[in-house]
Amino acid sequence: MFYPEDLVEEVRTRNDIVDVISGYVKLTRRGNSYWGLCPFHNEKSPSFHVIGDRQMYHCFGCGAGGNVFTFLMNYENYTFREAVKVLADRAGVRLPEVEYTEEMRRKEDRKARLLEVNKEAAKFFYWQLRTPRGETGYQYLKKRQLTDETMKKFGLGYAGKRGSDLIQYLKSKGYEDDLILEAGLGNYSESRGLSSQFWNRVMFPIQDLNHRVIGFGGRVMGDGEPKYLNSPETPIFDKRRNLYGLSFARTARMGNIILCEGYMDVIAMHQAGFSQAVASLGTAFTAEQAGILRRYTENVLLAYDSDGAGVKAALRGIGILREAGLSAKVIDLRPYKDPDEFMKNLGKDAFQERIGQAENSFFYEVRMLERDFDLDDPEGKTRFHREIAKKLCLFQEAVERENYLTAIAQKYHIVYEDLRKLVSSVAAQTGLARPIERPRQAVSQKASPEENAKRSQRLLISWLVDEPGLYRKIQEYISPKDFTEELYRKVAERMFEDLGKGSFQPAEMVSLFEDEEEQKEVAQLFSASLPRLDTASQREKAFRDILLSVKKNSFEYYTSRLGSDVDALKQVIDGKKALEALAKTHISLD
Ligand code: GTP
Ligand code: MN
Repeated sequence: MFYPEDLVEEVRTRNDIVDVISGYVKLTRRGNSYWGLCPFHNEKSPSFHVIGDRQMYHCFGCGAGGNVFTFLMNYENYTFREAVKVLADRAGVRLPEVEYTEEMRRKEDRKARLLEVNKEAAKFFYWQLRTPRGETGYQYLKKRQLTDETMKKFGLGYAGKRGSDLIQYLKSKGYEDDLILEAGLGNYSESRGLSSQFWNRVMFPIQDLNHRVIGFGGRVMGDGEPKYLNSPETPIFDKRRNLYGLSFARTARMGNIILCEGYMDVIAMHQAGFSQAVASLGTAFTAEQAGILRRYTENVLLAYDSDGAGVKAALRGIGILREAGLSAKVIDLRPYKDPDEFMKNLGKDAFQERIGQAENSFFYEVRMLERDFDLDDPEGKTRFHREIAKKLCLFQEAVERENYLTAIAQKYHIVYEDLRKLVSSVAAQTGLARPIERPRQAVSQKASPEENAKRSQRLLISWLVDEPGLYRKIQEYISPKDFTEELYRKVAERMFEDLGKGSFQPAEMVSLFEDEEEQKEVAQLFSASLPRLDTASQREKAFRDILLSVKKNSFEYYTSRLGSDVDALKQVIDGKKALEALAKTHISLD
């Protein structure tokens, strides 16, 4: 960990979570907790609540949850370190100076210089657009119906015909040649020396989440090649991990994010009030970008060009979004080519209507697939149905697959049973999907044994978080080693130690993990909802099932490791004893 653990804990305890979150969300007290509209998803009635005693928050709607640090990390998009810093300042806790190694300092300094020179260049372009030399650029943007306000908001500028102006300007400000080169603002040749990368182009500064300029896109005036020229990748410009417009879109909170292809599309959308629009950076949409979008929304709307290339890019994007667990829909822009042209011709109300009509990505994929087959030919039709079956097999969840199966059968007039059989046969042949399962019950019967084991471990931890008093009753039967999931074991180690001392603090635990993904998982672990059961005896049975399931899994796990793991023998012997003892014991939950 970057800062000492006790210091992080001091920062946490000195920032009451109810106070901090109240600064962002309107909270109303109800019983033991405070309720409000969830800032992490779009909702009309509150399912977000902050639990003062536990110093944690949780949303029943979207599953977000964590402590005061994770709240700021998710809301403000801070790293853990930044969140600690901000909250330390807020509470007046002094943090030690960070000790950098020589190498780290050099890199940090270099990045800071690169950001500076970019900012300076952006200022120059911005200024030049508004001088007589920038008249061509200004007229161009006006012709594309951008208002002065929009140009200002996006910091648009102009690189003049005399590229040497920029280089001279930067040099006069004290920036060295090699920095200008490394920032991608200049090129070097024997004959001409250092010259500007961009000339006679309107300039789109690309900003990171904190509105710092990390690179540029430049559009040629009129027809010319290449139409758009972008900064090369640099230590501060990673095209896979940034999105144009995201610094604005991330706080738009429209309940969705609209993904476009071009810079001009994003700008036209924002100008029309759709401030949730973003675009990738002159390259194809990436899995990293999908991961970033997931921080802000579950729903992505694709507004890609309606031409062949756009359809191809949309199909690719859908795959990536699905992989990232996001729901995608496709906006139909026809008869216009892209959002920019659509907006100019039909305006924002029409666009809003198209959002409402956006097509579910699976239906879109099937509709695009259909175009490859001749449905009048029985053979073509069969092949089309087989392709649909293949796609249906890709759904991991039986319920989801079933729902799509029903919908597609209806939509394409295929007999439901026929399509279902086709899915089963494709699944059997390719091993793509598991046979359709029966609805699941309490603990067991879900998917694989590993997932079951993981689920029981998770439920046991959640139950103990909810009722810490239970630990006393089961401590002789259970140890952290029974948690075969590494992350859960780490949690259990600390949690059991603290429970033993009677000083367990769920919120503290979250910040013991450095990795953001781990923090999220731990937070979820601590706010997972337990099975809803009415009677005491149902509850007792459920708890017992969970405990036994954890123990049995642990027993099997160590049995399979006898001979290869020094701990295994002891675990197997202890495990057997515990299982025997549990068989004879009644654990009451009162
Ligand atoms: P306008 O003609 O200005 O409306 O462009 P557009 O936004 O309609 O762009 P288009 O659909 O042609 O391209 C979409 C995006 O792809 C652009 O915003 C650029 O990021 C990128 N792009 C387009 N042309 C080029 C090119 O020649 N080189 C590179 N590197 N990127 C390009
Ligand atoms: Mn366009």
